Amino acid sequence: MYYQSTDENFCLYKGDTLQILGQIPNQFDMIFADPPYFLSNGGKKIHGRRMVSVDKGEWDKIKSSDGIDKFNQEWINQCKPLLKDNGTIWVCGTYHNIFSVEKCLKNAGFRIINIITWQKSDPTPTWGKLHFNFSSEYIIWAKKTSMAKHYFNYELMKQLNGGKLMSDVWKLPTVGLWEKTCGKHPTQKPLRLLYRIILASTKVGETILDPFAGSSTTGIAANLLGRNYIGIEQNEEFLHLGKKRKMDIENPLRFVDMQKHMADNPNEITVIVNHARRETKERMVETGICYLRAGDSEGSLCVTHGFERMEYVLLHTSGENCQIFKLKRKGCFQIWNKETLERYGFSPSHAAYYIVLKFDNKEIKGFKIPNNIKERINTYRAKIRPLSDFFDF
Ligand SMILES: C[S@@+](CC[C@H](N)C(=O)[O-])C[C@H]1O[C@@H](n2cnc3c(N)ncnc32)[C@H](O)[C@@H]1O
Repeated sequence: MYYQSTDENFCLYKGDTLQILGQIPNQFDMIFADPPYFLSNGGKKIHGRRMVSVDKGEWDKIKSSDGIDKFNQEWINQCKPLLKDNGTIWVCGTYHNIFSVEKCLKNAGFRIINIITWQKSDPTPTWGKLHFNFSSEYIIWAKKTSMAKHYFNYELMKQLNGGKLMSDVWKLPTVGLWEKTCGKHPTQKPLRLLYRIILASTKVGETILDPFAGSSTTGIAANLLGRNYIGIEQNEEFLHLGKKRKMDIENPLRFVDMQKHMADNPNEITVIVNHARRETKERMVETGICYLRAGDSEGSLCVTHGFERMEYVLLHTSGENCQIFKLKRKGCFQIWNKETLERYGFSPSHAAYYIVLKFDNKEIKGFKIPNNIKERINTYRAKIRPLSDFFDF
């Protein structure tokens, strides 16, 4: 073993996964595998204004298609007995390896549940004018056998998607600077991707295996979500990076900070949290009209980041009597003056202009209200929060 954290929830093995998998005594609730894609062939991409190589390292050097199949079949066969009967496996790839992975999973008796398309919201431009820009990766999700009953947190995924069924196309950004503070891995996966995968397919306290750990993104996301992790990696530098990332989140402030960042998907639906006096709130619920003071002291309108993704409004009175409603139109608002609001039975007193949000006045149930809705001096200022703040993971 290369490293075990003091809380024993994070463990790394050093060596060739093909040798180590056979020696692992545990069984796992989930396996996440980000194997070599075998795309390092001397290709180029544009980075900043420069053309740079797409090569990732020796471990990713292109192999013959037989070589790719043989490698994939070997590690997939070895993973099968390590997965609990109701467990699932996720495997990433691009066209370079994903068809081989699909074939090998089927050969090993796995049953495919979904193929997720990760659509990168900020892809780097690829070089050349003879093809579309490469902006997606695929993740195969499979269960152990066709008869196996696997776990899927359908309700949570639906809620994370604003109450609508979540599709198999996930629009998420690539890895951000905030997750590279301990160092970089050439093919590091974003924590936000693992966040969704782990929440969809595991419960708190369960254990996840990653046979190609890299910088241990899987382990960091697992621990941030209260799951345990075992990773295998052959490269000492990447093992060290994984250990450093784990030690970083042992600081409780960093832990909370990273957890928040990971849950805050720039494409995620948001909720506007608005305090109103009791009578005003009642009138808002009756009319389906919520208003906030518009602008700063100079009179200019400041629209905060996340406003355009706003789909719900939470009304409260000094942190009490919270109710959530769905907006009639996502991210849309009107500007009304004081007199117009008065015609709807409100008595606004602070400003000449107001932002008006219209909502369906049918209360939405089943949300967990975070206990910091009332934040003392900021209680009277409307705040935008990610929808995931309102679920209990
Ligand atoms: C695609 S990267 C994984 C990146 C990882 N998901 C992350 O977020 O950092 C694949 C990793 O597998 C490692 N690897 C490749 N072949 C291996 C093998 N046979 N045994 C162990 N590790 C291997 C590479 O060193 C590389 O770090």
